[in-house]
Amino acid sequence: MALGTTLTRFLIEEQRKYPGASGEFTSLLSGIATAGKVISREVNKAGLIDILGYKGKKNVHGEDVQKLDDYANAIFIQTLCHIGHLAGIASEEMEDIYHIPEDCPIGNYVFLMDPLDGSSNIDVNISIGSIFSIYRRESKGKKATMADFLQPGRKLVAAGYLIYGSSTMLVYSTGHGVHGFTLDPSIGEFILSHEKIQTPKQGKIYSINEAYRSNWTENIGAYVDAARKENKTARYVGSLVADFHRNLLKGGIFLYPADKKNPDGKLRLLYEAAPLAFIVEQAGGRASTGKIPLLDVIPEKIHHRVPLIIGSEEDVLMAEKCISKIDK
Ligand code: AHG
Ligand code: MN
Ligand code: MN
Repeated sequence: MALGTTLTRFLIEEQRKYPGASGEFTSLLSGIATAGKVISREVNKAGLIDILGYKGKKNVHGEDVQKLDDYANAIFIQTLCHIGHLAGIASEEMEDIYHIPEDCPIGNYVFLMDPLDGSSNIDVNISIGSIFSIYRRESKGKKATMADFLQPGRKLVAAGYLIYGSSTMLVYSTGHGVHGFTLDPSIGEFILSHEKIQTPKQGKIYSINEAYRSNWTENIGAYVDAARKENKTARYVGSLVADFHRNLLKGGIFLYPADKKNPDGKLRLLYEAAPLAFIVEQAGGRASTGKIPLLDVIPEKIHHRVPLIIGSEEDVLMAEKCISKIDK
């Protein structure tokens, strides 16, 4: 049986295609893939080792930190800080910027991540993921500055996610289309399984936590009613990566709007919404806050929250139209 195109081969071929490519992405994406393999191994034997459950501390957002949140965070840092192409790392699990240590070579990029997305699903065997963003540094000095991280999604140079589900996949874009790789655990290689992903222009799925309906601060209810009238079906996993990935492949829309409890929404711009918005636009879809394109939002702080409406272009346009109607 033919081996298929490994991630390594694909990255080398992509590098050849774009003369400007310096091989920095090849090393970074290879490092991300390595971290993904290690996390996948722990996720796939969770329950047999002491990696499940609550770490016994809260993160900067006041959320319970799961052991796997911290473990994944540490694995990404250990894997990426020696590669020599990063000047700093930001993470959902770290209050401030992590500066690359003195004994590691400093590079031209910064890396932002949600090391483990969907933490509430870890202990119950439902798909979870990791999400990442890569920006080119704006500053020139020895240390990364906040400005290097607070860049709008329009300036992303690469973004993607890993999903630890029925299989482990790496899905990423460097601005030349979206490509998906499936991990073959028997050889420890990511194999190209979804080349040039294009998301359907309209889907039959809408994903939203309707329990919060009475708290929504925008006219989201009008969209949900319209979606029902179009006979869309509701699917909501509670892991952003799992909901996004299903809708990316099948078509559909995911909404996490602002509500009275979270006036700016729950999801974080820099390492949840913007990287997925970059991916979905590369795949022919659309992402917005309901008011402006998601990639145009200017981050004010590392853990900036933002309402997110993302998925098939026609569905997101319809949601924006419903929200723009004044009558609630
Ligand atoms: P994280 O586990 O990284 O904190 O992210 C959880 C997020 C996201 O994955 C999911 O879409 C959302 O929380 C679910 O929120 P609700 O439980 O409020 O619906
Ligand atoms: Mn998350
Ligand atoms: Mn997380």
